[in-house]
Amino acid sequence: MADLDNLKVPHDYHLDKPFANNRPFYVKGANALDWGMKKHLANIFNPKSGNTVMFAFDHGYFMGAVSGLERLDLVLPKLMPHIDVLMCTRGALRTCVDPACRKAVALRATSGSSMVQDDLSHEILAVDAEEAVRLNADCLAVQTFIGADGQLSSLQNLEQAVNLGQRYSIPVLGVVAVGKEMERTQKYFKLATRMLAELGANIIKTYYCEGFDEVAAACPVPLVVAGGRKLPEQEALKLCYDSISHGARGVDMGRNIFQSYHAVSMIKAVRKIVHGGLNDQEAYEYYKAEVAKEGGEGAGS
Ligand code: R5P
Repeated sequence: MADLDNLKVPHDYHLDKPFANNRPFYVKGANALDWGMKKHLANIFNPKSGNTVMFAFDHGYFMGAVSGLERLDLVLPKLMPHIDVLMCTRGALRTCVDPACRKAVALRATSGSSMVQDDLSHEILAVDAEEAVRLNADCLAVQTFIGADGQLSSLQNLEQAVNLGQRYSIPVLGVVAVGKEMERTQKYFKLATRMLAELGANIIKTYYCEGFDEVAAACPVPLVVAGGRKLPEQEALKLCYDSISHGARGVDMGRNIFQSYHAVSMIKAVRKIVHGGLNDQEAYEYYKAEVAKEGGEGAGS
């Protein structure tokens, strides 16, 4: 086998070269898509920065009323002006989101797991294309479990969503899930993100890791980074900056916004990184100044 090993071409991600097939449409990997698909993607990714701030508040679909999201009807209006994309369930959308808000929608389309189970890796595609059209969804979010028990069925869900999405011009957001037993390494995220893109997802939600530049370079569609568990604000802003500066085209952040006591200041600071070119330190200074302006009243409360 040694001879064969010697024939291997070493990995080269050409990190110095931007994605080559990105003209005339600015969203990575979307050149060959039709007008309707591009319109949805343009609703999601700001045409100026090319990036997006997704606010994830779909946690209730398997976690119930998590801390910070007990009252969607009260939390959402405060954050709404600073959100690009609402990532949520159809239940939350119909009950708690003002249809006049003019925000893009990433519709959570899979379900079937809940916090009381040990294994969360089994879901079904629960939202059909007609329902997505009725809700004017800009993309269908499909959870996938690469390397877990539910891999096959979750990839079937993804493929089915891609088939429906192609028929109705609705992009698919492939969500890379991480479980207790699953790795959070560059190798794993490179595998999972590339697999989902090759299976037809138009956007991938994943996690930040060391070597993220290579993960992003090897994936022919845009990556958005999930926030994960609640961190101190300064660390969450660093996660956001590291993600954007290493190739992510946005964040899909939930707990690090809605569980911040100063949720409005936090999402505004996140925007400054995603769209405004600030680094994490500058954004943290901005966050502190915004908190001071609040005058002690927790905007997240
Ligand atoms: C996870 O599956 C949830 O659906 C969230 O959308 C996702 O985890 C992002 O939220 P957070 O930033 O809280 O991790």
